[in-house]
Amino acid sequence: MTERTFVMVKPDGVRRGLVGEVIKRIEQKGLKIVAMKMVRLSEETAKEHYAEHVNKPFFPSLVEFITSGPVVSMVVEGNSAIEVMRRLCGATNPIESPPGTIRGDFGLDIGENIVHASDSPHSAEKEISIHFSNEEIIDY
Ligand code: RTP
Ligand code: MG
Repeated sequence: MTERTFVMVKPDGVRRGLVGEVIKRIEQKGLKIVAMKMVRLSEETAKEHYAEHVNKPFFPSLVEFITSGPVVSMVVEGNSAIEVMRRLCGATNPIESPPGTIRGDFGLDIGENIVHASDSPHSAEKEISIHFSNEEIIDY
């Protein structure tokens, strides 16, 4: 089933020059990028994006990190795009994420794991609407 998901190269990924690497993996898998922009998230947008974690002990450092520099935000479309993007990213903790995944190949720190992808159809819809307007998403 064709789906859309929200993907973001996090500030550590941008700082380390991994934007191209992430885009390459999305494209070579056969998924289609239908919206993309570089932005610095406001504290308000960051808190909205990670609202499910508001009561977790790591929430303040998560918001500080995700607003610490520019991110590259995307809407990615394709067959089972939500699950496929989660598989391309790998496990939350890069130490447990196998080689071949983005986090497994490039990360060591759970707090700086390079990339975000929506975890469900509900999250995808919510996150796309937080980060993009309808006019920014291209049908092609
Ligand atoms: P994300 O939302 O960023 O794509 O990551 P995820 O679904 O794999 O993991 P999630 O549970 O949504 O957690 C969001 C981000 O919070 C940080 N985290 N730190 N210290 C900890 O125990 C801990 N747990 C999560 C991670 O940076 C994770 O990506
Ligand atoms: Mg998550």
